[in-house]
Amino acid sequence: MTTLPPTSQTSPATLPPSVFTLPQTAQLEALYTIIRDKDTNRGDFIFYTDRIIRLLVEEGLNHLPVIPKTVETPTGATYEGVGFEGKICGVSILRAGEAMEAGLREVCRSVRIGKILIQRDEETAKPKLFYSKLPEDIASRYCLLLDPMLATGGSAMKAVEVLLEHGVPENRIIFINLIASPEGLNTFCSKYPQLRVITGWIDKGLNEKAYIIPGLGDFGERRYCI
Ligand code: URA
Repeated sequence: MTTLPPTSQTSPATLPPSVFTLPQTAQLEALYTIIRDKDTNRGDFIFYTDRIIRLLVEEGLNHLPVIPKTVETPTGATYEGVGFEGKICGVSILRAGEAMEAGLREVCRSVRIGKILIQRDEETAKPKLFYSKLPEDIASRYCLLLDPMLATGGSAMKAVEVLLEHGVPENRIIFINLIASPEGLNTFCSKYPQLRVITGWIDKGLNEKAYIIPGLGDFGERRYCI
């Protein structure tokens, strides 16, 4: 028998109020089922993750403030609409976050995109910044921070630290993510309660290797390795 899931998810009370999920529709669940399947080939993995990324970016843009804007239409009438209040930029956390850049470019023409590389410091076992290249006027922009997998939250928190050091106010950062673990979300949002998280799906948890369960495995490996 066919069953349809509800069209929108009420977030469990345990989730921070700054977390927003995509509507948990049957279509979205079908897309996630494809990308989670270990037998999905690389071409399909790219195609279907791109579809979800596009939905996430569109949802992220819904969280940007707008101001009144009046235009004149070709009929000579005026239309009292709105326009985005500020400029935006994307910042991808390398390397997996790079896969989300194209989805952002598809909907925001000529968007500026920065990059941050964070890796584990073998001496301290903590996330360490290895490289960053950010738009010089980033402090005056809304920042869409891109990383597909939020596991422990360590890299995301380090990336936010870098953005704050560059003058981006916390409440101008929107973190965009495909799959999050509840523990990663709680750690991340307790540290940075003013930023918003847009995620496609919240999974059960983490395994002993800090992979998201059920998850989809290593996103970078599935996306980039043939
Ligand atoms: N990064 C991944 O690619 N997958 C996980 O499950 C966790 C982090």
